[in-house]
Amino acid sequence: MRAVTISAPGGPGKLTLSLVNLGKPGPGEVLIDVAAAGVNRADLLQRAGNYPPPAGAPEWPGLEISGTVRALGPGVTTWAPGDRVVALLEGGGYAEQVVARAAQLLPLPDGVDLVDGAALPEAVCTAWTNLVDTGRLHAGETLLVQGGSGGVGSVAIQ
Ligand SMILES: NC(=O)c1ccc[n+]([C@@H]2O[C@H](COP(=O)([O-])OP(=O)(O)OC[C@H]3O[C@@H](n4cnc5c(N)ncnc54)[C@H](OP(=O)(O)O)[C@@H]3O)[C@@H](O)[C@H]2O)c1
Repeated sequence: MRAVTISAPGGPGKLTLSLVNLGKPGPGEVLIDVAAAGVNRADLLQRAGNYPPPAGAPEWPGLEISGTVRALGPGVTTWAPGDRVVALLEGGGYAEQVVARAAQLLPLPDGVDLVDGAALPEAVCTAWTNLVDTGRLHAGETLLVQGGSGGVGSVAIQ
């Protein structure tokens, strides 16, 4: 399949289209046809050579995607081929397909298109979890967002 890989540490010009091999989904894993991938600062740090992927993750970047379930690994019962999903990844999202653990998928919410949905798993979930689930932010309260120009910060403001 095709993936956007990093030819050498550096700027945007170091991203290149390559043919790569992706393994089959193992036990508890799902194969997804990627519709769109989010772009996060961590991807840029990886491209610059300052954020290596964790052991076992694909070499090519991409921490969040949206797409359609293509195939299931052994033991997966929570998803079915054709499901529209978003997924949080350890890497590898800049590609035509990804393999992700079933627990790292969420259903694409109704009314959200596939391209917009690719930004949900990382930046949106991070902002929501911190502010609403943990921080218990309520309507009418005032919130100071530092780093408001960044990926997480701009979502937090919204
Ligand atoms: N992206 C995610 O989904 C995600 C998930 C989990 C955790 N995080 C963590 O959340 C943090 C933000 O991530 P991000 O992806 O939103 O990064 P980002 O897009 O690079 O945003 C970083 C923000 O911090 C500001 N900033 C950087 N250095 C600063 C300094 N010395 N003084 C004041 N402001 C400074 C930047 O301002 P300028 O625009 O002026 O440079 C920008 O607003 C990181 O610590 C990251 O590890 C991110």
